[in-house]
Amino acid sequence: MGQELPSTSLLVFGATGDLSRRYLLPALSEICENSDIRARLKIVGLSRREVKAEDILPAKAANLVDQFEVFQMDYSRADQYRKLKQKIKNLDTEQVIFYFAVPPEAVLPIIDNLGKAGLDGDGVKLLLEKPFGSDLASAGRIIDEANRYFKEEQIYRIDHYLAKEMAQNIAVFLGSNAVFRHVWSSEFIDFIEIVIAEKIGIEGRGNFYEQTGALRDIIQSHGLQLAALTLMEPCPHDFDFNDLPARRLAALKQLTIPEKELGESVVRAQYDGYQKEAGAPASATETFAALKLTSSDPRWTQTPVYLATGKNLDQKLTQIRVNFKKDNNSEPNTLVLRVQPREGIELDLWVKQPGYERKLQKKTLSFSYEQDFEDRLPNAYEQILVDAMRGSQSLFASSGEVLESWRIIQPVLDYWKTQGASLKKYKPGSSVERILENT
Ligand code: BG6
Repeated sequence: MGQELPSTSLLVFGATGDLSRRYLLPALSEICENSDIRARLKIVGLSRREVKAEDILPAKAANLVDQFEVFQMDYSRADQYRKLKQKIKNLDTEQVIFYFAVPPEAVLPIIDNLGKAGLDGDGVKLLLEKPFGSDLASAGRIIDEANRYFKEEQIYRIDHYLAKEMAQNIAVFLGSNAVFRHVWSSEFIDFIEIVIAEKIGIEGRGNFYEQTGALRDIIQSHGLQLAALTLMEPCPHDFDFNDLPARRLAALKQLTIPEKELGESVVRAQYDGYQKEAGAPASATETFAALKLTSSDPRWTQTPVYLATGKNLDQKLTQIRVNFKKDNNSEPNTLVLRVQPREGIELDLWVKQPGYERKLQKKTLSFSYEQDFEDRLPNAYEQILVDAMRGSQSLFASSGEVLESWRIIQPVLDYWKTQGASLKKYKPGSSVERILENT
């Protein structure tokens, strides 16, 4: 697959940081192990400190040692970007990708310095991590600022959930299976539940999380994107993903959180012990959020979508549960699109229980990636990197999608700020159902 790829220099701002060591470098290691991209890729870790390549590369990415080098520079100094420009010239590749593994406040100054140094030419791409702003207004400002130097086609905004194998599958599954395509509307679907549950807590990221919370961290990005994938016009089955961002955007545009129900249908909660862990004794930051979305798309007006996410819950689970309607003669069916773990699809069916009695029983028809495919499941970061190198933006969030997502949750942010909505407490290890029951 490497043949059609332009030769690439990947320059990593914040190479010594957690994000780079935990996600980026291991993903690059897999890509280089499993494809011929290796021969066309040079990786440069940009670091303020003087460090050796071996000290940055985690054990999982030791195979990158021959194509990884460190370039020391102070990102905040404009003059250092001239040095960087010379370095990039010496690398002599067809394209240059800057990956930003830096705190959100460091992103725009770096973009500004790149632009001023003339490092914004056509062969340059930016690979940006969320958060893209902290509300609708700040997201707009960030997008405008980045657009001063870079065109939309040069900016790749990562929402790694879009690149998860099962999330990609939603787009094709619905388009390729007539049996579901024809019932994919409010006429047949009662309600949809999307859960993104995490077992881990904030993992020492107290400062970041205090400014973020579950609504901004997960719902605004991953949660709404999963909703968009589920409700959008399905893709044709030729795998032409090019118009995926436009389809997701069209779905997002129809979504709102019912304003009149803001007080009742939006739940926020915090796990016991969070304040101490985050070092913020009076914190009202939510580590759990749940809300109801409705769509004004005529296909979906009667189908609410319930979204819930939280940290420190009983299990790690991301799934979309589609609840079909029952009628006078039949029982309701459920279709579960399981994003992680044990990626796959499950359909609950009602069958006759064997025996003289005429009784129904619910059984599950299932497909699992692990059991039904021999191929390994690449992780989302591998897909992101390969797509960015290839120049495919279908699995990245466009500026329009980012703004729409903020537009959807902005009323909640405003409501929480002005009405001081109550913050429930939950015990670490609770289930989503338990927390919702108690609210
Ligand atoms: C990130 C959030 O976007 O997604 C983290 O900032 C969260 O708080 C992570 O833990 C979850 O990703 P995954 O792939 O482990 O489900």
